Amino acid sequence: MAVQRTFSIIKPDATERNLTGAINAVIEKAGLRIIGQRRIRMTDEQAKRFYAVHAARPFYGELVEFMTSGPVVVQVLEGDNAVAKYREVMGATNPADAADGTIRKLFAKSIGENSVHGSDSDENAAIEIAQFFSAADIVG
Ligand code: RTP
Ligand code: MG
Repeated sequence: MAVQRTFSIIKPDATERNLTGAINAVIEKAGLRIIGQRRIRMTDEQAKRFYAVHAARPFYGELVEFMTSGPVVVQVLEGDNAVAKYREVMGATNPADAADGTIRKLFAKSIGENSVHGSDSDENAAIEIAQFFSAADIVG
């Protein structure tokens, strides 16, 4: 399997409960390497752009409001098959459907406040990383 990069966000429900380290421990235990990381407060504009693909969905407004409601930690993860691997480590979008040991099963509060984001394709990973990181801030 090829070494890949994916983009991760530790969402406001998780930073609010002081879970950054606990989530990073699950990520690292799975063999993914955190090669870029920054804690930010997302602006309304950044959140709207990031989730533009969901603009027509009924939960879009709520999602943008949630993602700007507190600090988030944006990350670049690297490892074998990183995009699929991290989706597996995160678990299903709805924590009620997430497998044991996954981040969302362990920590998510609801389908909306579900603790983490991970890119869903190689192409989107590159786009999402570019929205939040410059090359100098990623040290592999
Ligand atoms: P993400 O993009 O955050 O990694 O999550 P995902 O791929 O598992 O889920 P996606 O379908 O892309 O949805 C993006 C985020 O929108 C929120 N959501 N709320 N209230 C709802 O029914 C609902 N559905 C989705 C979640 O925060 C989800 O992660
Ligand atoms: Mg998604």
